[in-house]
Amino acid sequence: MNDDLLRRMPKVELHRHLEGAFRPEWLLEIAQENGIPLPASNTESLRPYVQVTAQDRSLLDFLGKFSVIGQVFTSPLVIERLTFKVIEEAARENIHYIELRFDPCYMSLCRGIPMPLVAEAILSGRDRAKGRYPKTQVRFIVILQRQLGTVMGEKALQIALAYQDQGFVGVDLAGDEVNVPPEPFAGLFSRAERAGFGITLHAGEARGSESVRAAIETCNAQRIGHGVRITEDPSLRELIRERGIPLEICVTSNIQTGASRTYEEHPIRSFYESGIQVTVSTDDPGVSGIDLTHEYGVLKDKLCFTAKDLQKMNLAAAEAAFLPLSEKTALKESLELEYRKYSQ
Ligand code: HPA
Ligand code: ZN
Repeated sequence: MNDDLLRRMPKVELHRHLEGAFRPEWLLEIAQENGIPLPASNTESLRPYVQVTAQDRSLLDFLGKFSVIGQVFTSPLVIERLTFKVIEEAARENIHYIELRFDPCYMSLCRGIPMPLVAEAILSGRDRAKGRYPKTQVRFIVILQRQLGTVMGEKALQIALAYQDQGFVGVDLAGDEVNVPPEPFAGLFSRAERAGFGITLHAGEARGSESVRAAIETCNAQRIGHGVRITEDPSLRELIRERGIPLEICVTSNIQTGASRTYEEHPIRSFYESGIQVTVSTDDPGVSGIDLTHEYGVLKDKLCFTAKDLQKMNLAAAEAAFLPLSEKTALKESLELEYRKYSQ
């Protein structure tokens, strides 16, 4: 299983942030074309402002990169282009289905683009990409940002509701898990769930089991973003296994934020072996300096996952997708068909 085979393997990804998918090269190009000032004028000197370095160790260091990235959100066209490029990259890695998440408040507040125009620009980028890369299906998850509070959370939920029939399928809670618990957002998640959205929350990344338990018990999370730190609580770990709550695991991001010390010590292997529903994603490929194929390479080389294991995790991701049953079944069938060819 060489890198080329890994790149061509049909994939499903459930956890990728649009804002965190910006490559430093794209940021520079867009900034130069639009006369937007950035703290550096070539890729190498811009890199430490927008990508994790060896000095960064925590979730808050990681999230700090978004203040410079936010400078380029000066017009809806930037967002349209970003969305197109992210889907283009996904198609080149043979991703058959991807859920892209974004925070409409952040994208709007950075440079003042009205929130509905943020959503419209994302959909235009998606439509342009669909013409070029019809094999890659795309859905969107709207993020409520912990540190922006529930008033902004309400605004994000309104965007999710307004565009629900255009491929907005889920609602997430992201941001500063250290200082902001999920409980105040419970009412917003309950409304999102009643409206038919899939619910996923970032939890168990910068905090331990109490944060994951609250995500499940007070916000009714159907999936958990990361969840790495459930290792600290065997009873919670058992609950996640028993209820089949899928984890959206992003190994490199987990190391960069300090949720796991090394690749070798990452609990993904033990989760997988104990029957927890494990799925693999990139989180913020631009900020992390990776792509999904890189993550598969790490799983193969450092954690001894085989092609069969990776395929099984993709089928688990398809099963956990925020799609109606018939579309989920069709996705799983198309993957299985290609996996049979792939193994011949
Ligand atoms: N955790 C919380 N918020 C985020 C992340 C993350 O990994 N990436 C982008 N926003
Ligand atoms: Zn994330």
